[in-house]
Amino acid sequence: MGKITSLPGSMADVPKDLLDQINRLEELFTVPADKLKQISDHFVKELEKGLSVEGGSIPMNPTWCMAFPDGNETGTFLALDMGGTNLRVCEITLTEEKGEFDIIQSKYRMPEELKTGTAEELWAYIADCLQQFIEYHHQEEELDQLPLGFTFSYPATQDYIDHGVLQRWTKGFDIDGVEGKDVVPDFEAALAERGVPIKLTALVNDTTGTLIASAYTDTEMKIGCIFGTGCNAAYMEDCGSIPKLAHMKLDPAMPMAINCEWGAFDNEHQVLPRTPYDIVVDKESPRPGQQAFEKMIAGLYLGEIFRLVLVDLHQNPDCNIFEGQDISKLKKPYSLDAGFLSAIEEDPFENLVETEDLFRNTLSIQATKPELELCRRLAELIGTRAARLSACGVAAICKKKNWSTAHVGADGSVFNKYPHFKVRGAQALKEILDWPAGKGKGKNDPIEILPAEDGSGVGAALIAALTLKRVQQGNYAGIRDPEAMIKAAKVLYK
Ligand code: BGC
Repeated sequence: MGKITSLPGSMADVPKDLLDQINRLEELFTVPADKLKQISDHFVKELEKGLSVEGGSIPMNPTWCMAFPDGNETGTFLALDMGGTNLRVCEITLTEEKGEFDIIQSKYRMPEELKTGTAEELWAYIADCLQQFIEYHHQEEELDQLPLGFTFSYPATQDYIDHGVLQRWTKGFDIDGVEGKDVVPDFEAALAERGVPIKLTALVNDTTGTLIASAYTDTEMKIGCIFGTGCNAAYMEDCGSIPKLAHMKLDPAMPMAINCEWGAFDNEHQVLPRTPYDIVVDKESPRPGQQAFEKMIAGLYLGEIFRLVLVDLHQNPDCNIFEGQDISKLKKPYSLDAGFLSAIEEDPFENLVETEDLFRNTLSIQATKPELELCRRLAELIGTRAARLSACGVAAICKKKNWSTAHVGADGSVFNKYPHFKVRGAQALKEILDWPAGKGKGKNDPIEILPAEDGSGVGAALIAALTLKRVQQGNYAGIRDPEAMIKAAKVLYK
């Protein structure tokens, strides 16, 4: 069978019991325009609450990244990215040419057991990777105080830029003895033990890195987003609009990047249209009650929501699906990832033959055509809901800041790889913000979500550079040890 141009997925032959279920799932997973508006209005209030003294469930963490780059940053920096899946070490040289850089990098697969192991194992593994990287790229060189931007993509309270108390693990991490503690001393101790000549200059969230890296090449960039294993955003606030920092008497006009940690939006379950499946995802996760928004959107959970629906339907006496088949593989939690849903949505064939193969090869299930139709529709519903809910967060920041136009830099596997995510998000922005006809197509929209520059590499390096720069200019806000930082700047720019 050749490629076809019409959309696959006709429901003509779907029996009534499956059609009924499809209709029920459509009801459950569709988020209409008025609901999107209600969610984003509530979101605006929650963003403000997070900045206030009493605080709310969205942490709105000040990051002490206090400027956009102007393109004239220079120097060689290390960047370490501890994301959800890989560990990446980069060396970035910001060159004399405006906005240009060179990069070398190595990736290390994070062993799965590290995510639920001990804190010592985690820091030892990371320090070993850094040591290996330096030994490989700087054999026999005398090195001193290489400045490092450490992208630690978890919610952290920062009293200083080189400090971060982990509020809670997200994205399935569950390592004892780290939550509630500053992660920097243990990390530095592991480096010192190995004699690795690194000076941690800035602890960075991936969203802040994304914002800064994207702004390096595009001055319209106002928000950095990650739609990946987890989901979150950062934007630049003015210090005068952060009541919880008022006691520090910072210049009200000075900028401060805020890591929203919006994954925690609606932990109180006031507006998000959660389905019974979302409730199970939350209950079975290592941190129930946390990251309510993230658990409906992020890549880590999309496959799991899909899987839970199918298992539920299989157990439902009113519905015949995968009758007489061994569904033991499907019964395994987190056996399906977002890539599985992407592949279903990308199946170009009318008879969904690629989806059929996928079910056979991954799950040992031989699905019938109507069953495949249901699966296809379910993937579309889950993927569309994720994109539409994501747009509520972007719209909320823009509303809060009164931005009617903005560029948003986005990164992460869901944004980059999930089919139609961008267009579905743009359509939702149009519905929330009442854009005129012709807008909301994802191109030349008033608020446009664009692929970001490398936030956890170049972004982290830039934030380290901006920190050293402002310290040299005498801005010590959020700097724990100004003298040590001045010394690091002198070593770098000698
Ligand atoms: C984390 C954020 C991070 C996001 C994207 C969330 O789970 O809490 O800090 O920015 O994932 O990686």
